[in-house]
Amino acid sequence: MDSKNTLETLENVRESISFYLSEGVKNRKSDFRTFTLCTSTDKPAGRTVVLRGYNRENGIITVHSNFHAEKIIEINKNSNACCVFYSKAKKIQIRCFGRAEVNHNNDKSSKAWSNMSDMSKECYFQKPYPGNVINNYDSFSKNVIDRESDSFVVINIHIEKIDWLYLKREGHRRANIFINQMSKDTWVSP
Ligand SMILES: Cc1cc2nc3c(=O)[nH]c(=O)nc-3n(C[C@H](O)[C@H](O)[C@H](O)COP(=O)(O)O)c2cc1C
Repeated sequence: MDSKNTLETLENVRESISFYLSEGVKNRKSDFRTFTLCTSTDKPAGRTVVLRGYNRENGIITVHSNFHAEKIIEINKNSNACCVFYSKAKKIQIRCFGRAEVNHNNDKSSKAWSNMSDMSKECYFQKPYPGNVINNYDSFSKNVIDRESDSFVVINIHIEKIDWLYLKREGHRRANIFINQMSKDTWVSP
């Protein structure tokens, strides 16, 4: 992060968020590499996922997942989602609120599939599907074939609002960032 960014202006906060989320995509060791993806139907649910893409211009977070997973059923019922990132080292929490869109057997999923390693692809050929009860811990198999798996999906979360929190001994700092309405960006009491 640029040392001139002292996180004292809302522009600095925007820039910092973009920097860390972009870094999370590229750098496996970044604290922002994984986050908790939260969905909400009858009951709330959260799970750790890998940050596969971040489009800073449009505020889109990308995740890879399995079409048969519970989270897809939930997103199809209610597309509201929240992505919670936290870096203990940077003392920064970033909560992104938006709408999730599931891409299955389309251009976006095919493009992502073609860029994936064989090892990553393997997971998407697993049977039975995720979440099914099995007799033993290893009672599942993978029948790998050389084409895009029907189980593969790309989830794009279109961020509307970000709640940013920076923990600081002298006083915490909190801001709300509105992806498409910069004029609404504001400091919030922490
Ligand atoms: C470090 C880590 C990274 C993970 N990354 C993903 C991921 O990118 N996509 C995914 O679908 N599940 C990922 N998982 C598994 C999920 O946390 C979760 O167990 C699984 O997706 C089933 O969730 P669901 O039943 O709510 O759909 C990851 C788990 C861990 C611990």
